[in-house]
Amino acid sequence: MINLIAGPTGVGARPLRIVLPGGSGQVGQALARSFQERGHHVTVLTRGPYTAPWLTVHWDGEHEGLWTEALEGADVCINLAGRSVNCRYHADERNAIYDSRIRTTRLLNRVIAGLAVPPRVWLNASTATIYRHALDRPMDEATGELGGGELISKRRRAPDTWNFSIRVAKDWEAAFFETQTPRTRKVALRSAIILSPVPGNAFAIFSNLVRVGLGGKQGNGRQFVSWIHEADFARAMEFLIDHEELDGAVNIASPNPVPNREFMQALRDAWGIPNVFPAPAPLIEMGAFFLRTESELVLKSRRVLPGRLLQAGFEFEFPNWPEAAEDLVRQWKNRE
Ligand SMILES: NC(=O)c1ccc[n+]([C@@H]2O[C@H](COP(=O)([O-])OP(=O)(O)OC[C@H]3O[C@@H](n4cnc5c(N)ncnc54)[C@H](OP(=O)(O)O)[C@@H]3O)[C@@H](O)[C@H]2O)c1
Repeated sequence: MINLIAGPTGVGARPLRIVLPGGSGQVGQALARSFQERGHHVTVLTRGPYTAPWLTVHWDGEHEGLWTEALEGADVCINLAGRSVNCRYHADERNAIYDSRIRTTRLLNRVIAGLAVPPRVWLNASTATIYRHALDRPMDEATGELGGGELISKRRRAPDTWNFSIRVAKDWEAAFFETQTPRTRKVALRSAIILSPVPGNAFAIFSNLVRVGLGGKQGNGRQFVSWIHEADFARAMEFLIDHEELDGAVNIASPNPVPNREFMQALRDAWGIPNVFPAPAPLIEMGAFFLRTESELVLKSRRVLPGRLLQAGFEFEFPNWPEAAEDLVRQWKNRE
């Protein structure tokens, strides 16, 4: 069924022109597919070449060019561009992670501020990782505390890699909001891990551990996992496009983050694989080293609540992890 987002005047449903810089990655593909199924016109800006069932336009993420025409008169911009964080944080990777986000955001600010008819809404990727390591209480937009150098146990402070991610997130949001765009509403997407039943996604990484018998708790299992099902992520984007009263930073996460031990237990149940070999923190650090990634994904406690989405009346299709895990596993099995 085609379900078009209402226009700004409330006149009724109409197809929107939606531009996705950096939309060739995991999140972008899921969003583009979802928007297209709902009858909207999707354009992905890519450093390409990249072929897709929707329009793709070349940009280099650094300079203005013909691609700016895709944004002229568009309804929505959703910027997802940024070098993948799935790597070891050596100096070169850190520079690439940082620069690719700040530079593309500033470039879009310059371009959008100068358009004759700019998009009426711009959603820019950010991350729920911006909040501190939180075991004690949930972090919503109003009362959450941003991270950086916090104590994570009696004697240990947050490691340098966690601080780096937080600095990226803070500077990314600062770069996004530093330019006034009075005709374009801006929302920074403080998103939790978006779970999709596709190879390479965090869901696949956790699932592969379960399927080879290593799906026990990670670390001490008390750290919280904030997550969102990809279907709810796409629905939240529609909601933000439609709700003109929402601007600024918005948390995009299910309302029920769970401790890692419960997260892994529900995933084991969904796969029907009752293995319990835990992975203590030193083993996680070693595994992350060999997999050329960082342990932050599983060891940092992300306890994030979607305060503003809930207040505005957003309803989650998958608010609870066990049902979300069952649905993702079902979709995975159907594809195999
Ligand atoms: N996935 C999650 O769970 C999650 C959670 C929170 C936040 N986020 C954020 O959401 C955004 C999208 O996530 P994703 O998982 O879809 O990432 P992704 O799969 O790595 O895709 C990001 C896209 O950015 C583009 N890109 C990479 N390096 C670039 C550069 N130097 N300059 C310009 N563009 C560059 C690439 O497109 P081309 O090669 O086609 O140009 C790539 O397809 C990211 O910024 C990520 O940090 C993701």
